[in-house]
Amino acid sequence: MIEEQDVLICLGSLEGLEDRHGAMLPPVAQASLFRKRSAKELLEGLKREHEEYIYSRGTNPTVKVLEDRLAALERGESCKCFSSGMAAISSVLASLLESGDHVLFVNNIYGPTLQLAELLARFGIDHTAIHGDDVRNFEEFIEHNTKLIYFESPGSMTFGLAPIREISKAAKERGIVTCIDNTVSTPLFQKPLEMGIDIAVHSLTKYVGGHSDAVGGAVVTSRELMEKIFYRGYMLFGGALAPQNAWLFLRGLMTMPARVRQHEADALAVAHFLAEHPKVKRVLHPALSVNERVLFETQMRGYAGLFSAVLDVEDFEELCAIVDSLRLFGKAVSWGGAESLVIPASGFDDDYGPQGIPKHLIRLSIGLEGADMLIEDLSNALAGN
Ligand SMILES: Cc1ncc(COP(=O)(O)O)c(C=O)c1O
Repeated sequence: MIEEQDVLICLGSLEGLEDRHGAMLPPVAQASLFRKRSAKELLEGLKREHEEYIYSRGTNPTVKVLEDRLAALERGESCKCFSSGMAAISSVLASLLESGDHVLFVNNIYGPTLQLAELLARFGIDHTAIHGDDVRNFEEFIEHNTKLIYFESPGSMTFGLAPIREISKAAKERGIVTCIDNTVSTPLFQKPLEMGIDIAVHSLTKYVGGHSDAVGGAVVTSRELMEKIFYRGYMLFGGALAPQNAWLFLRGLMTMPARVRQHEADALAVAHFLAEHPKVKRVLHPALSVNERVLFETQMRGYAGLFSAVLDVEDFEELCAIVDSLRLFGKAVSWGGAESLVIPASGFDDDYGPQGIPKHLIRLSIGLEGADMLIEDLSNALAGN
């Protein structure tokens, strides 16, 4: 269930429109800098760059409207937007960690985030990545120098859930900061900050944008943590979101509640069809997992359109032939747009690949074409037509 308040936040209906002449969306403040009336005003402003318009690598009025809406949706005090989801993630890690620290990554983590963890090893930051059954026993992997627990729920590719409230409790007891990548759920279907998590990161490129036309990211957290992230990872690495793209994300937000409801209904119909199909061994969708029923019902308010299926095929060649014969599913990375997409897990010899990804898995992003059309397409492809 999506809350009424969230629909109004997405639409901007709770904002005063006086200084916009009643326009629903703000103008694009296509400016790199903001002039002040005097030298002293400029120098005073520079001391509060996180809340003053000085330079668009710091703050920008169009981006600020998006940041305020995302903070409100996540029930956080503060949001900063970035030029990509990875810029947001790397800024969090670089801002909060130092040499000698350890990070615990819980659940199937988006591949490039783990590659970033490997890179951080060069700067003396150690990590452990756990998935599968270990997720439930995450406490066993906390070290004396663990400074951050970073997790996904649902996890990438396999969509298993992590116990959000338990992670928050265990971390708070030990003074460890927690960060979730909340991209797949969107702030409409899962509110991790309300469950005690310190930081939510997002790729806005997916459901927030919704039209496969812009790349962006966001971090939502407390004012205190944001000051660190702003003056370190955000300002110094310089991954600022361009105002034109912020405007596209604001437009995307306006239709996000309606879109994710449609993605949810259609993806459930497709997932149930696949779960019954003889050519399908397993469907990996948070709402269909019997083992994770309780977590799904207590942590999530719904789920949009991204899930995986494990096919009963002879080999990788047969898997690719099925994927290629799909007419309506684009073969592409990313997800969350109006068009359905499919990507196979890359071929590997063992039964399980990296992070326990099962052999012969395909990930589907269910778009807005309509469930009947998509089911017919899948049915034909699985029949070898
Ligand atoms: C779960 C998740 N987090 C983060 C990212 C990275 O976002 P971006 O591509 O906007 O940098 C992605 C991209 O696919 C993702 O799937």
